[in-house]
Amino acid sequence: MDAAALLRDFASPLYVYDLDTVRARCRALRAAVAFAPFKPLYALKANCCPAVVRTILNEGFGIDAVSPGEVAMALKLGVSPQDILYTENNMTDAEQVEAVAQGVLINCGSIDRLERLAAAGVTRCAIRLNPDIGDGAHEKICTAGPLTKFGIPNAYLDQVLAIERRTGIRVVGAHMHIGSGFLEPAAFASACTVIFALARQLPHLEFIDCGGGIGIPYRAGQPAMDLAAMGRQLTADMEAFCAVYGRRLTLRLEPGRFLVAESGTLLTTVTSVKETPEGRVFVGTDTGFNHLIRVAMYDAHHRIDNLSRPNAPIRRVDVVGNICESGDIFARDRDLPLPQAGDILAIRDAGAYGFAMASTYNLRPLPAEVVIAAGQSRLARKRRPVADLIAAWEW
Ligand code: LLP
Repeated sequence: MDAAALLRDFASPLYVYDLDTVRARCRALRAAVAFAPFKPLYALKANCCPAVVRTILNEGFGIDAVSPGEVAMALKLGVSPQDILYTENNMTDAEQVEAVAQGVLINCGSIDRLERLAAAGVTRCAIRLNPDIGDGAHEKICTAGPLTKFGIPNAYLDQVLAIERRTGIRVVGAHMHIGSGFLEPAAFASACTVIFALARQLPHLEFIDCGGGIGIPYRAGQPAMDLAAMGRQLTADMEAFCAVYGRRLTLRLEPGRFLVAESGTLLTTVTSVKETPEGRVFVGTDTGFNHLIRVAMYDAHHRIDNLSRPNAPIRRVDVVGNICESGDIFARDRDLPLPQAGDILAIRDAGAYGFAMASTYNLRPLPAEVVIAAGQSRLARKRRPVADLIAAWEW
């Protein structure tokens, strides 16, 4: 990747996604899970850049959608409705009507939504259960256990069964998603045990969906998730479950980050280097937490490389953005080849929940997005001018 050429062509800051990396992660996941039938879904929320999503769809993945917008994006990309699972979370009745008309399966996260689906004459749905065991890289992205808004509590499984008996609705999928960014398989394995035990009681299942959450090693030297071990555990659990259940069901997973995080880089240009009298060095850039909020929001770690001056003497610096908040920090006390104004920095592993969570705070436009495939770069999304932002109001 010739970062200087990319920034000349598409301007700084810039999101760049390497599609070969996305494809490699898709294949690694498939290779780790021997159980068949296996139908992984891609959690579109991580990165919905069409070129990225097409790469994943071409590897045989379906789509995990969580909003009407994500369903619309998946349908526009040609995904058939039966390959889309819509995991609802406080959906409105109007959104329910739309999703049913689109023919996508709704994964219900509450008893009252299940009642309303049944009342509307819907005959098939999935349910999201809360296995009471959560995990994740930060408390804000732990999505199971007593403090989370997600899923139907296990204690209410009897109510689910009663609704199934009383109405025509059939629960064809049992789902969990315990959290995001875990690198140790233990909590996931325990939660699977809970879900498989609950699933035995549901008579009409066609699939079990164990959710997403596989982390990536954001820190240099951090060990990656043992995918092979996770795959072996899932395969063994599923085989044991199917033997008892009496039918072979489909296994689903819903990775987002694992497939796309490492493919993405946020390129940014150093605007100013400032040393305080106390010796703290602030490396200022032309992007900010409006473009990559993960550090400010989850205390996340993103590796940063000085692409222009890799051999400069190492200094301990703070890499900061151009947003008017003190929390606008990409790295505190990071040892980096000391940048100078004009240098290009690469903020790594920004392909998941980077652009997807970006905003135009401070009236700064979103960066452009570029994809690289087989060494060739092409624009995926233009940067819109400031005038477009301002024109959105009623003048
Ligand atoms: N399935 C469901 C129902 C989810 O809610 C999520 C993520 C996934 C699958 C995919 O999880 P993944 O494999 O990407 O961990 N913005 C945060 C992550 C939030 C994840 C929300 N749900 C971050 O930047 O770390």
